[in-house]
Amino acid sequence: MERKKMLEVKDLDIRFELRGKILHAVRGISLDLYKGEVLAIVGESGSGKSVFTRSFLGLLEKNGWVAGGSAVYYGGNDESGVELTAIEREKDWIKIRGHEIAMIMQDPMTSLNPLRTIGSQIMEAILLHQKVGRMDAIKKTMEYLEDVGIEEPEKRFEQYPHEFSGGMRQRVVIAIAIACNPRILICDEPTTALDVTIQAQILDLLKELRRKYKLSVILITHDLGVVANIADRVAVMYAGDMVEIGTCEEIFYDPRHPYTWALLSSLPQAGQKGTELFSIPGTPPSLFASIQGDAFAPRNPRALKIDFVKCPPYFEVSPTHKAKTWLLDPRAPKVPLPPVVEKIRKGGLF
Ligand SMILES: Nc1ncnc2c1ncn2[C@@H]1O[C@H](COP(=O)(O)OP(=O)(O)OP(=O)(O)O)[C@@H](O)[C@H]1O
Ligand SMILES: [Mg+2]
Repeated sequence: MERKKMLEVKDLDIRFELRGKILHAVRGISLDLYKGEVLAIVGESGSGKSVFTRSFLGLLEKNGWVAGGSAVYYGGNDESGVELTAIEREKDWIKIRGHEIAMIMQDPMTSLNPLRTIGSQIMEAILLHQKVGRMDAIKKTMEYLEDVGIEEPEKRFEQYPHEFSGGMRQRVVIAIAIACNPRILICDEPTTALDVTIQAQILDLLKELRRKYKLSVILITHDLGVVANIADRVAVMYAGDMVEIGTCEEIFYDPRHPYTWALLSSLPQAGQKGTELFSIPGTPPSLFASIQGDAFAPRNPRALKIDFVKCPPYFEVSPTHKAKTWLLDPRAPKVPLPPVVEKIRKGGLF
């Protein structure tokens, strides 16, 4: 079955100006999002995950701009799609933001108004984005509160954000996003600030809401561990580039890029009792300078000579799986897989 494309990103290039210098945050990423899927984007801090996705909502900070490429949204009524990178006026962004594409941020407190009841905040989103009257909006607010697992919605409706725990606040933020009736939901580290049990509950909730509201979800995280249970596909970002993409199975059981290997090796689940957890040596390259060769080469113990000279192209592993590493060139030497990756392949971890 042909899957419907919701978003088609091609060669997206994003830059910032900082004290007279240019920072190249996203260096030509191409990526599609399909209807109903959960696409996870993983990568270390600073790899460009937030900047990349914020550009779909016109939420880049003032010193940033899309310097090239395109991002076409196909989810709306216009069959020919909307070129998001061409939108300039705030009044045109308002038609997309929330209503077509909604975003949930890491810290729920920053997205909630501390001075207003949570009921009125959800209701406002409904009245703005759905064609219903006040009475129906109140009823719907209760339904959304129940949808996100908040008990006693009548009582909760009248309460303020500070009366909610961190996990509950994130549920409210999710309710507000859903109330905008979007087709794409971008979750930027929605669980990072929460403890592990609450994290799992929020991820379960997202899974459920995706089904109920037929959402396409982009889930951003620096923790590959959280995606195993929820993502259909995983894109791995490094230094503003996408170095590997595949189905969840492919990324966990047949990863090809040394950076993906490093991420898998640093999973807490991979640690042996009594030994120190693997952490990736070195630091990512400066995004102010142009990057030569494979950006991960200086941190990659298995790097080849060519990695320092020439940027690798994508090599296709399967129709759904590709990676940007010279190791996939037919001429490349065979290198042994890191022990953790070998262990996962044999089914020893998940
Ligand atoms: N307004 C800005 N001005 C200058 N540089 C910026 C700005 N916003 C982001 N950057 C830079 O762009 C790069 C990508 O940042 P981004 O926030 O997308 O990373 P991230 O992958 O989301 O990281 P994290 O996991 O920490 O959230 C970083 O080097 C960051 O410093
Ligand atoms: Mg971020």
